Amino acid sequence: MCGIVGYVGPKNALDVIIGGLERLEYRGYDSAGVAVIADGQIRVTRAVGKLENLKKSLEDAAVPAVPHLGIGHTRWATHGKPSETNAHPHSAGKVSLIHNGIIENYMTLRADLEREGCIFRSDTDTEIAAHLCNRYISKGLDLFNAMKAMCAEIKGSYAFLVIDERYPDRIVAAKNSSPIVLGIGAGEMWVASDIPAILGSTRQVVILEDGDITEVRANTFRIEHDGKEVERTPMTITWDPVTAQKGGFKHFMLKEIHDQPQVVTDCVRGRLRQDVGSVELPELPPTLLKEVQRVLFLGCGTAWHAALLGKFYLESLARIPCEVDYASEFRYREPVLDARTLVVAISQSGETADTLGAVDVAVKHARTLAICNVLGSSLSRKVESTVFTHAGPEISVASTKAFTTQVLASYLLALVSAEQRSMINKAKLAEHTHAIALLPMAMQAAVATESSVREVARRFQTARDFLFLGRGLCYPVALEGALKLKEISYIHAEGYPAGEMKHGPIALIDDKMPVVMVVQRSPHLRDKAMSNLREVHSRDAQVIAVTDTEGDKELRRYAAEVIEVPFVSDLLSPLILTVPLQLLAYYVAVLNGTDVDLPRNLAKSVTVE
Ligand code: F6R
Repeated sequence: MCGIVGYVGPKNALDVIIGGLERLEYRGYDSAGVAVIADGQIRVTRAVGKLENLKKSLEDAAVPAVPHLGIGHTRWATHGKPSETNAHPHSAGKVSLIHNGIIENYMTLRADLEREGCIFRSDTDTEIAAHLCNRYISKGLDLFNAMKAMCAEIKGSYAFLVIDERYPDRIVAAKNSSPIVLGIGAGEMWVASDIPAILGSTRQVVILEDGDITEVRANTFRIEHDGKEVERTPMTITWDPVTAQKGGFKHFMLKEIHDQPQVVTDCVRGRLRQDVGSVELPELPPTLLKEVQRVLFLGCGTAWHAALLGKFYLESLARIPCEVDYASEFRYREPVLDARTLVVAISQSGETADTLGAVDVAVKHARTLAICNVLGSSLSRKVESTVFTHAGPEISVASTKAFTTQVLASYLLALVSAEQRSMINKAKLAEHTHAIALLPMAMQAAVATESSVREVARRFQTARDFLFLGRGLCYPVALEGALKLKEISYIHAEGYPAGEMKHGPIALIDDKMPVVMVVQRSPHLRDKAMSNLREVHSRDAQVIAVTDTEGDKELRRYAAEVIEVPFVSDLLSPLILTVPLQLLAYYVAVLNGTDVDLPRNLAKSVTVE
């Protein structure tokens, strides 16, 4: 997500901060900014787009003296479109502040501050924090205690860095759910969101914990936690700078697979009211889901697979007739559309040419909605409203965390539709919100299948064809597993509905064909999948079963390998079952020595037809 760098010490703070932000560029961002204290005054410079634009603005702004303290930020928009006014730092009075994360109660806080007379210049949630800090300093607190008081009011995730003209020798930082590391030097200190930002300067770091508030000066730092001063032991980082960018993982794809427990949390943050057992998508026009009589999902590749699950959710929960179309096919048919049809376009990038072209057709006749990861993307500007997935930048060409959040966002959409159309009662809805709350832990356990999946990959790495089978909700999972494998390992893989196998593909099966069978515990589907599995087994195929059932003895009798993930609910199982398939594709590719993050012939965003 966003990048943060702060510096206090003898060097030119601007050079250090820009250098640090450059090392975080790989994460993706849409605007950037810095605040430094020079000649006793805070100077803020911000720019949309790349750091080159910020550097140009800095040349034009010509800071009058060499600054020795400052903070900088690269922003990946979450609240408010990418623009100079929404870029960080945000300022109030003599305070400047940067933030990673999401403030959940920002609407209430903003209304309170506006009543007190604060003027807001941006659409961001972050600006609230600057005003809150300034308010507490005006009431007589010092910078550290103002940060403490502010954090007590804020709900959500944050990494905050704040500076104030009245305290020109220090940076105060606070952390909850978003990372902060302190870099320790001789007479100089860094504060950053990620280790790569400071690795070129120091290898001695302190990693802050949730709830920590720290005051950092050139020669010292102190940390408080729950009102008490605490010691955090510095550690020595031995990573090389390239590995560090990937958070210590060998490839972005593996990092992004590991990001999934966190991004499913980010995707539902502020949308799930567990206290009252409800789901909210305030970004949608209030009556939209009540008015429409039909939903048409559009997407390409992985997004199309997410759309298949979206159809399943909307039909079963909200009882709305749904269709799914490839965006590339839709625009060249003569689709039947009207004002009672809602077209839902799913896209990670929001820049896929086929999807944009299809939406251009849809907006003329139907209502439109996007499920998208990139704020300010072309897609989000074309449609009436967008449900953002909040998966953070996805760097690896093969999509992983974008898929899981697209599916989750579709599920939230279906729950909101079901509630608005009175298709679900309070008790059932509460069951769904409870299951969603369990999802991050289940995703964590699914990621922890990594070492067993690696062994399975070793066993089957030389196979030249794979068949992926699943029924019901597991069919899109099978398609996604097959797509991942072919994309990054260049091995032919086909995803198929398990029940259709006997109508053709069964002819392909022999002892050289590994069959990945995705088996969901739901009694009816599990039994059907088991009978398909027996058919495959009796034709000598080696079966790799991925299941959400613990200790299924019958499954173990027929499958050469069984990978188990936890069960949360029937409807959420596809998200969890997908993770071992992503890992399987990843390790088969690694063992075959392909370029995992940049597979041949593929681009991250397909912006041409
Ligand atoms: C698969 C993959 C592609 C994309 C497709 C759509 O791993 O990455 O199939 O899903 O090109 O891209 P977006 O979602 O950006 O529209």
